Amino acid sequence: MVKVAAKRKTKKVAPADIPRVGPGTPAGEWFRKYWLAVGTARDLHDIPQAVKVLGEELVLFRDQFGKLGLLGLHCPHRGTSLEYGDIEDGGLRCPYHGWLFDVSGQCLEQPAEPAASQFCRKVKHLSYPVQELGGLIFAYMGADQDNPPPLPKYSPLVDRGGQRQVEPVRHCDYNWFNFFENSADPAHICILHRHAGYGEQSWGDQFFGYKNMPEFNYVEMDYGMKVVMTKPGPETGTEWADEMSLAMPSIIQVGDTEFVHAKLDAAALLRHGSQCEHILFLTPGDDDHFMIFTVDYYTGSDAEFFQHLKQMRARETPKHEVKEYDRRKYMPFKGNIRQEDVMTQSTQGALGKRDEQLGVSDRGVIKFRSIVAGAIETALNGGVPKGVVTQERAGEMIQLHSFAGVRAKGTN
Ligand code: FES
Ligand SMILES: [Fe+2]
Repeated sequence: MVKVAAKRKTKKVAPADIPRVGPGTPAGEWFRKYWLAVGTARDLHDIPQAVKVLGEELVLFRDQFGKLGLLGLHCPHRGTSLEYGDIEDGGLRCPYHGWLFDVSGQCLEQPAEPAASQFCRKVKHLSYPVQELGGLIFAYMGADQDNPPPLPKYSPLVDRGGQRQVEPVRHCDYNWFNFFENSADPAHICILHRHAGYGEQSWGDQFFGYKNMPEFNYVEMDYGMKVVMTKPGPETGTEWADEMSLAMPSIIQVGDTEFVHAKLDAAALLRHGSQCEHILFLTPGDDDHFMIFTVDYYTGSDAEFFQHLKQMRARETPKHEVKEYDRRKYMPFKGNIRQEDVMTQSTQGALGKRDEQLGVSDRGVIKFRSIVAGAIETALNGGVPKGVVTQERAGEMIQLHSFAGVRAKGTN
């Protein structure tokens, strides 16, 4: 008799599974294959910092020797928050009964236990590996704690003779995927953002026109997807182009920052194209909250670039008139790109919970959801999903695509 091998069932993922990130969910397990931004070096001082990531309550700290640790927030003894603990004696000490933990979660001391007690040796608190790169602190929350994949060296985090700025962390109270997939929906730039800086300067007026939108193309990449926006260029054989990349699991890189905000000499900008990589790392706290870690890396010649950028952004305050009887929560929003985005994304409801009617102009969103669902499926079925760096590529700099400027037509 011939035995028929039992067919292993392939796990399938639907777009509605993407937003949910708690332990045991498909997207939650997928996220745990990657290094995630959980803090900034600038904000981590000599006190512990509570941080919620993928539904888990954690505490981030640096011990007195500079080593980074990420432990479960609640002390394994009787639950007090280690956010109020003391950094001393080679670890983090709980304020309640003084249990002391090193960065690996190993309990080192229990002052109230008998002097000869070996109990503390048996206590190993929840801990995750942590690494610092380019001013950001990343954690790996996957199962294989002793053998995590390499931390990807995204180009804005690598020193290459330019200037770097780590922006203040933003905290948002809606589902992370609304923010992520918004970048696969660039038509909104011409519509929603026509009231903001985009509408008032050469790049916005010429490129992201409400009545004359660029052509949008969506290209699947090994890191995720690239959005390529183009218009016929100033000379035959050229095109205006603006690219944005969406990398797994939740990274966006934009290249037109100085075109949009700085409103500098347009001719000079176009001569060499964008020289600022603006990268955003989204980290879900839970299904209804996420953090945005933003880094800018500038390689141009303006020594005061970030100062100029700050001044330009400060002018982008909402110009919207708010009537005295207007009680709407997100008023005013028109005139400031970030506030416009927050209003639209936070009132949508999470994917899978809202009804939708998608048109041709939503094809970027449709394609992107399928790429993300595919990556989650790969992870669930034991493969290496897009965006996870293998050991062979450990030292490589990861360059996402974010060109903005004029180039030969059809350049990829
Ligand atoms: S609750 Fe932390 S040491 Fe007792
Ligand atoms: Fe936007």
